[in-house]
Amino acid sequence: MKVPNDKINVMISYDEMQSRIKEIANQINKDYKGKSLLVVCILKGAVLFYSDLVRMLDMDVRFDFMTISSYGNSTESTGEVKIKKDLDNSINEQHVLIVEDIVDSGLTLKNLKEVLSTRKPASIKVCCMLDKPSRRKVEMIPDYCCFEIPDKFVVGYGLDYSEEYRQLKDVCFIDPEFAKTL
Ligand code: PRP
Repeated sequence: MKVPNDKINVMISYDEMQSRIKEIANQINKDYKGKSLLVVCILKGAVLFYSDLVRMLDMDVRFDFMTISSYGNSTESTGEVKIKKDLDNSINEQHVLIVEDIVDSGLTLKNLKEVLSTRKPASIKVCCMLDKPSRRKVEMIPDYCCFEIPDKFVVGYGLDYSEEYRQLKDVCFIDPEFAKTL
């Protein structure tokens, strides 16, 4: 179903996001000073946030990408992480930073961290663009987070509704009454 333009409102503007990513990047630069960092993008939602973030990092950085699925056909997380595209390289003894678009129930990241921890990285941390703490089902505290948001249906800046709206420049929310009909 298409969402009419007047049902899509800005929650966090592009400019607000850019300045917050700069703050987070400064912190990451301090924390990993003198180290090299493997920055893992969780496709697809994190791709725009990831590309903004990595350009602000000043240590040695390497890229890798993963596609995981945790929702199956339903909108509720099953808690099981299915790896659809795995990392290209070993993370053994690497400092790993997982970059996600949003933490909701926390199940995806909790399970993903457990899976990646078995591969013996030197360290593993999580950086997310958005956090919905009110939706949490398991404990998952991101190490770096741009914004905590209320439980609204968000699209844009990489986030989708039915694979659309990812390209919107700002983080937007769908009118709550309209969102109930989706
Ligand atoms: C979203 C998001 C996280 C997960 C968060 O992925 O990118 O991976 O859901 O939910 P949780 O905290 O309840 O587990 P989605 O499956 O929508 O994939 P996408 O990034 O390709 O849109």
